[in-house]
Amino acid sequence: PFITWRDADGTEISANVAAGTNLMRAAVDAGVQGIHGDCGGALACATCHVATDTAWAERLGPPGALEDEMLDMVEGERTPTSRLSCQILARDELEGLVLIVPACG
Ligand code: FES
Repeated sequence: PFITWRDADGTEISANVAAGTNLMRAAVDAGVQGIHGDCGGALACATCHVATDTAWAERLGPPGALEDEMLDMVEGERTPTSRLSCQILARDELEGLVLIVPACG
């Protein structure tokens, strides 16, 4: 699916992401500033923090329990739609997804 990352300045980077790829890896590969993925997707760093609008948040579903705990450790501000992007796998239904990359705290 076609995924877009938008940073706090409104700068956008988009990429066509292969199904099954996690969206932290896809962001790093696409050169998105502000997504680091220091732990490699092991739910141990919270440096892959993104948010969405509420419509996309509903389609993505809520974070898992461990992800929810890790979201309390993000740099910057956690929002009601915050997710850790290593926990979101690209799939066809996510075509057009826009991920908001929070300003680093
Ligand atoms: Fe470390 Fe997502 S990459 S929690």
